Amino acid sequence: MNVRDEQVLRELNLYPLWVRRGVPAQEELVPAPVASQAPAVRPEVQAAAPVAKAPLLADVPEVASIPGVASLDWPALKEKVRACEACKLRAGCTQTVFGVGDEQADWLFVGEGPGTEEDAQGEPFVGQAGKLLDNMLFSIGLKRGDNVYIANVVKCQPPNDRNPAADEIATCMPYLQQQIALIKPKLIIALGKTAATALLGRDAPLGSLRGTPHDYHGTPLLITYHPAYLLRSPGEKSKAWQDLKSAVSLMH
Ligand code: URA
Repeated sequence: MNVRDEQVLRELNLYPLWVRRGVPAQEELVPAPVASQAPAVRPEVQAAAPVAKAPLLADVPEVASIPGVASLDWPALKEKVRACEACKLRAGCTQTVFGVGDEQADWLFVGEGPGTEEDAQGEPFVGQAGKLLDNMLFSIGLKRGDNVYIANVVKCQPPNDRNPAADEIATCMPYLQQQIALIKPKLIIALGKTAATALLGRDAPLGSLRGTPHDYHGTPLLITYHPAYLLRSPGEKSKAWQDLKSAVSLMH
């Protein structure tokens, strides 16, 4: 194992791989393949197959159909989101959480929606899940704000950190769509099922969506686990690491 892989495994809490006799082997602790076994081949982007939209997101409007949003530049889009009261989430949150990072980033990471810390600070992924996301970025040589943009599907914290409802996602999606249009990332990474479903426009088990790049209007879209899920299920971190390695090979 080279130094870099070791550093990455440490970041993802997968290190050490070797344990003393009598102690359960790492494979038992982490059922998925270790990082060094991650596929080195560059996956092909799945053709933009016409997919039937699930009822869940049937009402998600396209940017072009939302007068005003599709033509907004960064300052206007930020102001529009800041002042947004289009759904009931705004009444229950402290502030909108727009997104953060390099506005011309090659890498775009998309989460679900702000949690309590994010609601307080006005920045995505600044709580525990955010710390893990920062470590995941570090593990592939990336840093928040440096060729990386981080956004969420919904810009307001849902009450009690529940999942955003379909109508809330549909209302908020044009903002993310316009962020993507302005950033023009080379790769989008959806963190978790909400982001995956919203960006794909269809619902499927997350495990079945990982591993192969999808297409978001011509931009490769990779899907991996949400950092909050990985905090609850650390045994899945090695799969996330495989996904990150796929992302790196896709970008090279
Ligand atoms: N979870 C998310 O999906 N987004 C955040 O910004 C924070 C936690």
